[in-house]
Amino acid sequence: MTILVTGGAGFIGANFVLDWFKTSDEKLVTLDALTYAGNRNNLSSLDGDMRHTFVRGSIGDTALVMRLLEQHDVRAVVNFAAESHVDRSISGPAPFFETNVMGTVGLLEAARHFAGTRPGFRLLHVSTDEVYGTLERDDPPFAETNPYKPNSPYAASKASSDHVVRAYHETYRLPVLVTNCSNNYGPRQFPEKLIPLIIHNALAGKALPIYGDGLQVRDWLYVGDHCSALRRVLEAGNIGETYNVGGDNQKTNIDVVRTLCALLDQKRPRADGTSYATQITHVTDRPGHDRRYAIDARKIERELGWRPAETFEHGLSMTVDWYLDNEAWVTDVTSGAYREWVARQYG
Ligand code: NAD
Ligand code: TYD
Repeated sequence: MTILVTGGAGFIGANFVLDWFKTSDEKLVTLDALTYAGNRNNLSSLDGDMRHTFVRGSIGDTALVMRLLEQHDVRAVVNFAAESHVDRSISGPAPFFETNVMGTVGLLEAARHFAGTRPGFRLLHVSTDEVYGTLERDDPPFAETNPYKPNSPYAASKASSDHVVRAYHETYRLPVLVTNCSNNYGPRQFPEKLIPLIIHNALAGKALPIYGDGLQVRDWLYVGDHCSALRRVLEAGNIGETYNVGGDNQKTNIDVVRTLCALLDQKRPRADGTSYATQITHVTDRPGHDRRYAIDARKIERELGWRPAETFEHGLSMTVDWYLDNEAWVTDVTSGAYREWVARQYG
């Protein structure tokens, strides 16, 4: 049996694929379009491993997905593939709707035709807490029953994709599962998102940009914990259900950035002996910026027994270590040379 992982060359997808083989010998096919956010080298440790197949292609290519489902006798799909960065969705929303909505429709079309021939087949759609909109300071965290109120084009595109997944379940009885997770951090995150951007800019001696007052709150989860939640939902989740996933770990952005600076001060002190915190610079706020996200993850704990294993302090320290040990990775994912290699390799 095989599972198909879409978007497996990206941040969470690559962590999921690499973690998969630590606990399973089941074959896995990665389908990834290798956009700017997808890095083929994330999976290079699996080159030559017969359990893993990498295919460059789009989830929107229904014929390709159908072929992969049939050829590999796929028992489950985990859909990570997406455009994922809020700031990019503000400067250019169209690709978000093309990939996250229409791409997902293409994938679902293949899945619904295949599912009828494959008893036990299931599709897990990986989504975000941003679909619920924003919380005021004293609001309770997002539960699965919260209404959808997306504010950014990214959140709206993910909310739309969740609705489409739900509709395929209600209309075609496609066996689906949906997870809505809070902000992830960890190794292999593209250096445009807050945590890797701050580490990268700090080491490069650049400004550490804080949007607005920096008192916006995010509920951070270590990527390995997200992956363990997804494995648990895939294995034991009830078809048609949604599970919120979070770390019960609300932090303001400024706190996160100050903690990162303190970790870097210890691990790689600045040459002039002052703190990286001196590089912090408040910049114009993001339009439509959600003030606070927080997840109520009691359902997945109660029903499936999942809980995060990592503390924020340890997870963040490991993440900083990873970026310090892998500075070439950041250069690679942001370099023209890597993009040229992708073009030569895959056309
Ligand atoms: P990412 O941007 O790092 O990776 C996305 C991957 O999808 C890339 O490898 C990219 O090449 C691939 N991709 C894009 N378009 C594709 C297409 N049409 N067909 C196939 N592959 C395509 O994103 P991420 O942070 O790893 O997020 C993965 C998923 O998890 C997304 O669906 C995102 O909405 C969701 N999510 C992310 C977070 C987070 O904090 N990063 C939190 C909750 C949910
Ligand atoms: P980000 O990593 O883009 O995730 P999301 O917008 O999906 O939550 O941003 C996390 C938080 O950090 C968000 O409140 C925006 C803020 N932020 C900054 O203050 N400066 C930055 O340079 C970036 C990229 C984000």
